[in-house]
Amino acid sequence: MKLFLIGYMGCGKSSLGRRLAHRFAIDFVDMDKAIEAEAAMTIPQIFATEGEEAFRKREREMISKLGAAEGDQIIATGGGAPCREGNLELLNSFGTTIYLKLPPDILVSRLCRNKAKRPLIAGKTDEEVAEFVSRSLGEREVYYQRASIVIDCAGRSDDYIVEHLYN
Ligand code: S3P
Repeated sequence: MKLFLIGYMGCGKSSLGRRLAHRFAIDFVDMDKAIEAEAAMTIPQIFATEGEEAFRKREREMISKLGAAEGDQIIATGGGAPCREGNLELLNSFGTTIYLKLPPDILVSRLCRNKAKRPLIAGKTDEEVAEFVSRSLGEREVYYQRASIVIDCAGRSDDYIVEHLYN
C-alpha cells in the first residue's frame, strides 16, 4: 500500500503523514527530505543554485523512485509535486492520492509563520503571500482535485482525519 498525501504548502501533509503512518504501523517518507538527502542540499539551496526547473525534475524522479520502492508507505509530497503534467497520474499509478484541502486564509496564516524554508514565499510580505496563495492555489486546485480521495480539513482535527482515513 502506498498513500500519497498531496496539497498546498502548509496543509499538514508531513505532520498528518507521520501520524497516519503511526496509526497504520507503516513507514513514513517525506519526499522533500528524500530530495534533500539525495541532493545533499536543502530545498532553498536547490532553488538558489540549480533553479526551480531542476527542482521539479528532481521531484518527478523522486516520485518514480518512491513509487517503485518495495513496502507499504505513507508519503508526504511537496506542494507542487502533483501539479506538473503527468505527475498526478504517475502518483495515482503507484497508489492512492489523498488531497488535504484547506481554504486560502488558513494556509496563508500558517505559511506567514514560516516563510524562510519555502523558497516560493521566502522574502514576501504577508500581503504578497496572500496574493500568491490565492493565485497559485487556484491554478493547482485543478490537479489536486484529481486525487483519489479529497478531504476537507477545515475545522477538522488531525485525530478526526487520521481515524477517518484509517477506517
Ligand atoms: C513547494 C512546496 C514545498 C517544497 C518546495 C516547493 C511548492 O513543500 O516542495 O518548497 O511548489 O508548493 P511543502 O508543501 O511541504 O511546503
